[in-house]
Formats: sequence, C-alpha cells, structure tokens
Amino acid sequence: MAATKEQIIAALLQAYNMEVETVVNYLANSLHLEGVRADFIKQALAADIQGELGHAQQLGNRIKQLGGSIPGSTQLRMTQSYLEPPQDSTDVVQVIKGVLKAEHEAIEHYKSIIRLTEGEDYVTQDLAITILADEEGHRQQFEGYLKEYSKK
Ligand SMILES: [Fe+2]
Ligand SMILES: [Fe+2]
Repeated sequence: MAATKEQIIAALLQAYNMEVETVVNYLANSLHLEGVRADFIKQALAADIQGELGHAQQLGNRIKQLGGSIPGSTQLRMTQSYLEPPQDSTDVVQVIKGVLKAEHEAIEHYKSIIRLTEGEDYVTQDLAITILADEEGHRQQFEGYLKEYSKK
C-alpha cells in the first residue's frame, strides 16, 4: 500500500527532530569533554554539528514543499538520553558509543523513509538516500575512533 503524504511528512518530522537533538548533544559533548584523549573527538563533534544541521535544513525544506510546518522548540521531543554528556568528562569512549547509537538510529530511520516513499515520492527518497550516505560515513568514522580509543 502506498504511503500517504501525511505519513511521509510525519516521517520527515521525526527525522528533523532526530537531527536537531543530535546537534544539541554533539554541541554539548564537544564542549563538555576534557583531557588529552578528548581533544580530537571534541573537534570531530564540533565539525559534525554543521553536517547534522545541514540535514535538518534539507529535511525542513522538504517538509515545507510537502505542505507541512516546522516545529519550534516546544514541539520537539528530546529523548536521546544515551548521548547526553557523561558524568565523567574524560569518558570519551562513552560519548563515542553514544554517537554510534545515534548514527545507527538515524540510519535505520532513513532506510525506513526510503521504503516508505518507494513508488510514491522519489524526491524525498532521493534526499533520504543522500543523508543515509552521510550517516553511514559518520558511523564508519566513529567505529574507527572506537577501535582506537578502546585500546588499553
Ligand atoms: Fe544527520
Ligand atoms: Fe550523522
């Protein structure tokens, strides 16, 4: 059964919410972490903020094109507790694992949008595929960091 426009807008709104929440937590962790091992990860997170913000902008444009409206701060739902700054501000590994979980969830959600839009909305599908490629790149990048930072 083909997806309705409302279902597609709802899926895009969820993606938009996820991207904005990721920006909030990447920003927080890029500021929160400290110590010799943290510097590189802080820089990587700070750089990724722009990329995730760009995703939110692209998704927002598509939501508008489909006739939806963009949620303000009180309409967003923040649930990403696993990516909040760790109590131990030198616990870089916990942050990397949180990033990997966020990227994994994003990847799964973009795959679901690709399936949802099949045969129905190829512009949204194309956008989801483009963003999916970015998120897979992020996952690979942070999997590499995890390998290195997990060494004793
Ligand atoms: Fe993203
Ligand atoms: Fe990402």
